[in-house]
Amino acid sequence: MSDKQQFNIRVNGDDRAVTGKPSDTLLRVLRDQLDLTGAKRGCDQGVCGACTVLVDGTPQRACLSLAINCTGREITTVEGLAEPGALSKMQQAFVDSGAVQCGFCSPGMVLAATALLAENPSPGVEDIRSALSGNLCRCSGYEKIITAVQSVNAGLDQPEHDHAVGARAPRIEARDKVSGAARYVDDLNAPHMLHGAILGSSAPHARIVRIDADRARALKGVEAVLTGEDFPNRYGSFVKDERVLARGTVRYAGQPVAAVAAIDEDTARRALLLIDIEYDELPAATDTRASLAEDAPLIHDGFADYEKLNLRGAQLDAPDQEIGQGTDNVLWRVDISEGDVDAAWADCEVILENEYETHAQQHVYMEPCGALVEIDASGKLTIHSPSQSVHNVQAKVAEALGLPMTRVRAVSPFVGGAFGGKGGPHVQPITAALALATKRPVKLVLSRAEDFEFLRSRHPSRYRAKTGARRDGTILAREIEAVFDAGAYCDETPAVMCFGVFAARGPYNIPNFRGSGVAVYTNKLRTGSFRGFGGPQAAFVGESQIDELAAEIGMDPVELRIKNAMRTGDQYIGGQTVESCGYVACLEAARDAAIAAGAGNSSDAPPGRKRGLGYGSSLQICGSHSTSANVYLLPDGSVALNTGVVDLGQGSDTTLTQICAGALELPIGSVSFAAPDTDSSPFNWKTSASRVTYTAGRAVLDAANEVKRAILDNGAEMMECAVEDLELRPGGRVGLKGVAEQEITFRDISARAHYRVGGPIMGARSLMFDGEKLDPKRVLLDGFVFDNFGIYIFGAHAVEIELDEATGRVEVLRAWCAHDVGRAINPSAVEGQIEGGFVQGLGYALFEEMVWADGRLINPTLMDYKIPGIAEIPAEIHPIIIEDPEPTGPFGAKGIGEPGLVPVAPAIANAIYSATGARIRKLPLTPERVL
Ligand code: FES
Repeated sequence: MSDKQQFNIRVNGDDRAVTGKPSDTLLRVLRDQLDLTGAKRGCDQGVCGACTVLVDGTPQRACLSLAINCTGREITTVEGLAEPGALSKMQQAFVDSGAVQCGFCSPGMVLAATALLAENPSPGVEDIRSALSGNLCRCSGYEKIITAVQSVNAGLDQPEHDHAVGARAPRIEARDKVSGAARYVDDLNAPHMLHGAILGSSAPHARIVRIDADRARALKGVEAVLTGEDFPNRYGSFVKDERVLARGTVRYAGQPVAAVAAIDEDTARRALLLIDIEYDELPAATDTRASLAEDAPLIHDGFADYEKLNLRGAQLDAPDQEIGQGTDNVLWRVDISEGDVDAAWADCEVILENEYETHAQQHVYMEPCGALVEIDASGKLTIHSPSQSVHNVQAKVAEALGLPMTRVRAVSPFVGGAFGGKGGPHVQPITAALALATKRPVKLVLSRAEDFEFLRSRHPSRYRAKTGARRDGTILAREIEAVFDAGAYCDETPAVMCFGVFAARGPYNIPNFRGSGVAVYTNKLRTGSFRGFGGPQAAFVGESQIDELAAEIGMDPVELRIKNAMRTGDQYIGGQTVESCGYVACLEAARDAAIAAGAGNSSDAPPGRKRGLGYGSSLQICGSHSTSANVYLLPDGSVALNTGVVDLGQGSDTTLTQICAGALELPIGSVSFAAPDTDSSPFNWKTSASRVTYTAGRAVLDAANEVKRAILDNGAEMMECAVEDLELRPGGRVGLKGVAEQEITFRDISARAHYRVGGPIMGARSLMFDGEKLDPKRVLLDGFVFDNFGIYIFGAHAVEIELDEATGRVEVLRAWCAHDVGRAINPSAVEGQIEGGFVQGLGYALFEEMVWADGRLINPTLMDYKIPGIAEIPAEIHPIIIEDPEPTGPFGAKGIGEPGLVPVAPAIANAIYSATGARIRKLPLTPERVL
């Protein structure tokens, strides 16, 4: 007998009949039965607030509310705030204020804010913080959300909806995100769809003695159970050390060992409980010290036989001096040397040498990883998944499953944040294998805990750093040795570590630099790309030590930085000339603003508290790897833009559209941005490494300029004049210079090209960074996986903290975050990246930490792993945009995706030193450590 019953709930003004079990949550009923997917599943524990709805006008977590208890109540979801196609005032304010990034939190935020304004039409900042304290946002840094809420009734100026390059154009997809229309992977369904679930290893390191899945297969509703025996292929970017499901050995707790597809999620999860696995537990090494010990267990005893590649896909000989030998747990080594460090020490009057340590941070994109895979009659797969590159998903699934790439199509739904964590494969290969096994569509979405246990983290690291200088502050040499914790599988570790060593010179002219790194396997989840890509670790070390040097020689820390700062025309390691460098301008802007505000004065602090002001800097890169873009002039004179770029929430769809529109002097609405699709989009490596604005922007600009040339050529033929006599005019027109009335439209030109002469007008550009490469005559590079990094980008933060002397708790009061972006294509989006990066860096610096005990992650939930909420952000975060145009950048632009996070931890550590004289060299800067 079914335990389901029928009942009515009233949603968005309508009575809706639903059928459900008494235990069904309101969230499940809204999403699964009423297709109201604006309420999101972010944690299923009532922590993240993504599922917020209004019940009788009060914000409530739909994941904690039983649907049956909502009978007779008035439920409002984000879809019910306005008529279809329209937006409420609050929704519009979020769009106009740039408060929407990935948008996963936006429906819940909008509803919570709507409820606040219903009670308090003129809320202050503290009222807003209080009302939204239960709604987490990982992207925005909350600043623009506060602005949006205040603007609704306060009559604050909204930005003009000017769409030109340099304008604060609202995001092209923001209306979908605030209205609930945007579909993320868990919001998608397909006819006859099955649901997938994975079983993670309970042991951190063990031989799999036996897997018995018979009982699971026999469960009614189960269509497939897969284990490691179904996956003969290994895959990976640098070292092919990973299988889709563990086979023979498990190397971390949580590693997938089996997967199920069943008629619904409950059945799939019940089936997991029926899979019987016998493990023979092995000793586990869960940190790099244990893993490098003489008696450490060997984590990959077949390492010597694994295929190894460099970044360019070339096979490396194995064993090789740069990579591990397979006799210990060393995965990769890198050595960099420029100048003569040993000789330089003799000229130094001050030498500092210290050790530093950083920890594992999780990305905590608000949308957990998932995939929906469809299969057609020919066996071709279509993968819908949040990723940082559809092309990478296609390649990795094909490799993992041994399929030709023509049988794998990857497309992108909306992506609820990524920060590097969705840059490599996650559940796509498993879900694709289940679809192949069942010949039916399969959706598999991880729970928050599974996402924590199965995927990636930032690399924990240990550094020894030595810096030598003259007493006048001239830095002569730096040497670092780094140990990076790779976790159980290689993933992108060699690349991250290379940058983590390379960037340790910092934004300074240090003529003699030597850096070495060793990446080590451990029995933890893989570590991989995460906003900053080794830069945050390097900055914590380098920027802490430069502060220590300033104290040692009695010099102002900003003056010491300026004295040694890189400037335009200087060269970084390997000899590449930096053509645009606003670093000193960033330092001065951050410092001057902080000083003008009276920051860091302990006499302003209440009794028992101390204040300090600290500085941190960033040197990052943008422009690595290849990309391409197509621009096509449609018959009506508007433009279709296709780049293959996935927007993770940072706003690249809008920025690239602005670049295209700017080149052709069109309004942004005349450019259609194509959703990424491997069947139709040109190649883009990844939305990663702060690269999209620069690389994809260049490709878009070049392709648009090709279209512009063709438009002018056609126009010259039509107007019977020389091309040089013509000009583009705003709004899609070509005119004769100096003669206002002589002009023709893009529509006329395109119609002629399409239907009479010449053929459709299209521009295409593919490119790889074409600047200087690292000069091997100048720098020793062993195990280094890059030829160059593109261009360099710089920033500096000033951070004011207040510290409780009794508890050691550090509170960041104000921050001034200056970044040189070359040219802000969209200042609102740039500020959003700086603010969001700052707040994610604040969590990294102060309290976010993945903790393992006995090889098991013990805090895999948002209850136990805290990220900054709106209540934890500083009272003031001031993004400061510095524009030092990059000659090769589109309209002079450079990247800004990562740098906002990078200087935060050292700036806070330096502020603690400034307040107390105590130097902390280990992250996070917890109250215990501060005390
Ligand atoms: Fe808030 Fe992405 S915009 S989580």
